[in-house]
Amino acid sequence: MSQSEFPGAVLAKGVSLAFSEGQGWLSVLTDLDFAVRPGEFVSIIGPSGCGKTSLLKLLTGLYSHRSDVRVSGEVFVNGASSTSARMSRQIGLMFQSPLLLPWRTVIQNLLLPNELIQDSPETPQDPTVILEQLGLLQFQDYFPANLSGGMQQRVALARLLMYRPRILTMDEPFGALDEQTREGLNQDLLELWRQESPTVLFVTHSLQEAVFLSDRILVLTDRPASIYAEVQVSVTRPRSLDQKFTVDFLNAQKELRALVKEAWDEQDAGREKGVDR
Ligand SMILES: Nc1ncnc2c1ncn2[C@@H]1O[C@H](COP(=O)(O)OP(=O)(O)OP(=O)(O)O)[C@@H](O)[C@H]1O
Ligand SMILES: [Mg+2]
Repeated sequence: MSQSEFPGAVLAKGVSLAFSEGQGWLSVLTDLDFAVRPGEFVSIIGPSGCGKTSLLKLLTGLYSHRSDVRVSGEVFVNGASSTSARMSRQIGLMFQSPLLLPWRTVIQNLLLPNELIQDSPETPQDPTVILEQLGLLQFQDYFPANLSGGMQQRVALARLLMYRPRILTMDEPFGALDEQTREGLNQDLLELWRQESPTVLFVTHSLQEAVFLSDRILVLTDRPASIYAEVQVSVTRPRSLDQKFTVDFLNAQKELRALVKEAWDEQDAGREKGVDR
């Protein structure tokens, strides 16, 4: 049985993606090969505009059947081709902004996906259980405008968990938050991951956040993105905030920084020489 046949597994084989641009195509991802094990926590780091969001959208099936997006290669998520129908409940996507409906309360926002897809065979979780888990129960009847930014992102995370997807794809979900709020959410996410073992694909620009959360980090080149390096993070688990000051943690961060610099310097040098990478 190949890895792609396990629930929670993600497999990309020779994946390239381009967007229609004028008369031609803008190449965004080129020949990506990677495999993510069920329950693994993998972060993705790459320069702005290199194609990270596009990669997550591709994995969640958002580009299926679109004539303005050209995809080649193969993507398997939970063992199924990512272009197959009804991907959305098995793989959840969380964005940098919470995208809550302002006229609906917290609990009503959580119930929205269920109202939109009435004939779904999957049963949603009890929203109050998830809200309790994320420390939001007492705010269930609040409107988004009356919540802090961190609380709004917690609600977005709660909404993501309503169908307990085996795979969570998260696109800089805490990037707009202050450091302390971000650390709190990082800890909550790790606790949830420890309890439920979803596969997580996490895009971030913070090397420290990537090291703190991940089993493995994929370092992407500039657009069109390819994988420059994969870094295994050997910092012991469970991880606490204090570990950020240990030699192991700092070394991991240093190694990652060096690789990222190498990847991006190499790309710049290539550009100067007019080399098409
Ligand atoms: N729907 C689209 N149509 C055309 N071009 C697009 C589309 N979506 C993204 N792009 C282009 O694809 C490239 C990659 O965009 P993407 O949003 O994936 O980058 P990113 O790595 O997530 O960047 P950031 O770190 O700033 O979020 C950009 O040049 C962007 O303009
Ligand atoms: Mg992005």
